Amino acid sequence: MQNPDKKVFVKTYGCQMNVYDSERMRDVLTPLGYAETTSPEDADLVILNTCHIREKAAEKVYSELGKLRVMKRGRAADGKEMLIAVAGCVAQAEGEEIVRRAPAVDLVFGPQTYHRLPQLLARSKSGERRVVETEFPAEDKFEGLEARSVPSRGVAAFLTVQEGCDKFCTFCVVPYTRGAEFSRPVAQIMTEARKLAAQGVRELTLLGQNVNAFHGAGADGETISLAGLVAELSRVEGIERLRYMTSHPRDMSDDLIAAHAENAKLMPYLHLPVQSGSDAILKAMNRGHTAEDYLRLVARIRAARPDIALSGDFIVGFPGETDADFRATLDLVREVKYAGAYSFKYSPRPGTPAAEHDAQVSEAEKSARLTELQSLIHAQQTAFNAAQVGRRLPVLVEKPGRESGQMVGRSPYLQAVHIQADPGLIGQIVDTHITGVGTNSLSGHYAHAA
Ligand code: SAH
Ligand code: SF4
Ligand code: F3S
Repeated sequence: MQNPDKKVFVKTYGCQMNVYDSERMRDVLTPLGYAETTSPEDADLVILNTCHIREKAAEKVYSELGKLRVMKRGRAADGKEMLIAVAGCVAQAEGEEIVRRAPAVDLVFGPQTYHRLPQLLARSKSGERRVVETEFPAEDKFEGLEARSVPSRGVAAFLTVQEGCDKFCTFCVVPYTRGAEFSRPVAQIMTEARKLAAQGVRELTLLGQNVNAFHGAGADGETISLAGLVAELSRVEGIERLRYMTSHPRDMSDDLIAAHAENAKLMPYLHLPVQSGSDAILKAMNRGHTAEDYLRLVARIRAARPDIALSGDFIVGFPGETDADFRATLDLVREVKYAGAYSFKYSPRPGTPAAEHDAQVSEAEKSARLTELQSLIHAQQTAFNAAQVGRRLPVLVEKPGRESGQMVGRSPYLQAVHIQADPGLIGQIVDTHITGVGTNSLSGHYAHAA
């Protein structure tokens, strides 16, 4: 390994999968002599790991590239280099178009090619002016990423186990930017999990665009489901908590539901997006289930694990959405009672079927619906948080808080919890009396190590 003599600045947009990918890019760059910096002005290499899910997300990248172009010029005046790379889903979706729109960009590579970063950088340094690589290679990216070299990831880490999507919801770019669904082999995941546990990680969140569709190859060539993977991971020494996201309602299998009843390490919190409560809209979205199917599924999950908290994703103003369709979404939210949820205005994405639809909903209508939905979700979230006061919850202590003597941890329901505690408790799960609730967090004091 070289001494760090170069600096890299990585900016991450979008979902947890991108957060994971950015970490893995750092892993690839460390042996090449890159140390991380938090100021782009100092960077020899800047990577924007981008998101294409909504128009706003994609446009942010171009405004950032505008700023970087100026910095690059400033560094060049001082005789210093700044390579600018665009990675992630915008890179995959737009490819060459990026260098046309933003000529300061040196490298463009997609989510499936970043393991080739050493070669891509070498090509750039040897004089190739624009290196654009957005194919879906045949080799296994994860094989090329064996070592997780950068320690100190804290006590909670992401671990991508599945990638890509074959569902083709009519609004969504993910099947195009991430490619076909793919599950990592179980042995590879176990190796990575053990490494993380050895670095002090206690909680793993298994990631996949459709994580509950996971079907990885086992040691004897058999196929292992997500429930099977969770069972294996829960036997890794040091791993105390497991989560997974994002799940599709259609792939919520019986064995996975049963795992929530049986496996104490599987946290009682599930992100299960439904997008809409209207059957007509669900059909137009190609979701493959009705509102009633979803409600029945939620009832089965709650029967297995009564204290499970649910979160979701919603889109308002999908083409053709009437006021009655939107009311059906509000009804569904009232019935499910979420611990929290994300909601978005529909954003037409180039190349997706819904973007071609004639009956686009007006911006004003979308905004009004979003406000109404978000206030309902906010009220549910507030009620859910308030209901924790007076309870005892196991809290995984993660890091020091802002005030002295204060630590921050996570409840089983992913809430941040502030407690007065000793830094020596980082990485431990402590039994906590919840005494207060703020806008985005809880507070409490701990009884004793659980
Ligand atoms: N794989 C996940 C979600 C990926 S995108 C899943 O299947 O649920 C995260 C969320 O972004 C989606 O759940 C959806 O609510 C939202 N989203 C996706 N495409 C969108 C679009 N074109 N406009 C607005 N929101 C969108
Ligand atoms: Fe997108 Fe639908 Fe696949 Fe989720 S299931 S990633 S929303 S196409
Ligand atoms: Fe965005 Fe790509 Fe994730 S489009 S949401 S970064 S999979």
